[in-house]
Amino acid sequence: MQSTLVLIKPDGVKRGLIGEIVSRFEKKGFEITAMKMLKMTKKLAEEHYAEHVNKSFYKELISYITSGRVVAMVVEGRDAIGVVRKLVGATDPVVAAPGTIRGDLSLDEPANTIHASDSEDSAEREIRRFFPGYWDKKYVSPDELKRKIDKLEKQNSLMKKRVEWYESQSQQMEELIEQYNQLVKKEFDNIENVIEKMGTREVMDPITRVYSRDHMLNYINFFHSKAFQEDIQYSLIFVDIDDFEKATSKIDREQADIVLRDIGKFLKETVRVPLDTVSRLGANEFLILLTEISKKDSISVANRINKTCAEKKFKVDGKIVQLTCTVSVIHFPKDETELSKLLENGEKLLEMGKKAGKNMVMFIR
Ligand code: PPS
Repeated sequence: MQSTLVLIKPDGVKRGLIGEIVSRFEKKGFEITAMKMLKMTKKLAEEHYAEHVNKSFYKELISYITSGRVVAMVVEGRDAIGVVRKLVGATDPVVAAPGTIRGDLSLDEPANTIHASDSEDSAEREIRRFFPGYWDKKYVSPDELKRKIDKLEKQNSLMKKRVEWYESQSQQMEELIEQYNQLVKKEFDNIENVIEKMGTREVMDPITRVYSRDHMLNYINFFHSKAFQEDIQYSLIFVDIDDFEKATSKIDREQADIVLRDIGKFLKETVRVPLDTVSRLGANEFLILLTEISKKDSISVANRINKTCAEKKFKVDGKIVQLTCTVSVIHFPKDETELSKLLENGEKLLEMGKKAGKNMVMFIR
């Protein structure tokens, strides 16, 4: 769809050819989308014919076009610019083909009855010149208006359908969100139950800064099932500090706690944390879980703990505390396969070691 500017020049208006000319465009199928009658000022004429300023006929053309009223109109339709130019005919009416407007209705120059834009650029420029705002507001014919209304109504009903669809979707979404919220609430309730069941048991022992007895026993329970199912071998090492009370009799309780903390630290440094887990089992007793380890290697670790402990000097406030420890090793699955027996036998071995003179490593041969 194109728009082009047509001027019925003063001779066409004077001779009463407006109807004839408009009718030719309309019969061809074009629509007149804007129209007005005016007398062109010199300024407007000079602007309109600016590109011909150096032509010999320029002055004559300006004086002719400003000599009487013209009708300006916008003709709209398929390929309007080229087709209208063909309907208008050649510039010189003498050579314009019969059947064209100039060929049928004019004979002279510059009084060749009609002007039509010759390109898209000049059509746009000339329409702006005679109908400022045409492109902004665009003059709309009743037919076009009806077409636009129909189109808008179609779009509107389409939009309504879309809105209905979105509304139904959002209702479904709301239902899903509600279900999701219920699930989240249920999960939270579960978690709260678990936390409640766990109670306020300490995970870490505050003095030695290794895991607490409760935590360790829970963990071993869990780890033992896993080891059982997945054929993982592991060892439990029981470490009892020999005569701790006696060895720390010259220092006060707080300083003794510092020594215990250093023992915890030393044990963690001796094993493979985080693969292995160190815990405080009793006042002066520790339990270590060595995972994925052979019995032979566990005995080496136990020997190392025993030896390093005896060689180590634990310092507190400038005072030196020397300690020894009794260590027992029990291996899963070589020594025992039941968890309760592993724990029981580990403790028994430790007791045997303490009765036999302390500062030794006990294991089942
Ligand atoms: S040219 O020479 O190719 O630029 O001519 P053309 O583009 O066809 O016409 C430019 C406008 O000048 C008008 N014209 C004349 N007026 C008076 N005398 C003579 N000899 C003459 N030759 C051309 C012609 O009608 C054009 O004006 P519009 O308004 O577009 O018809």
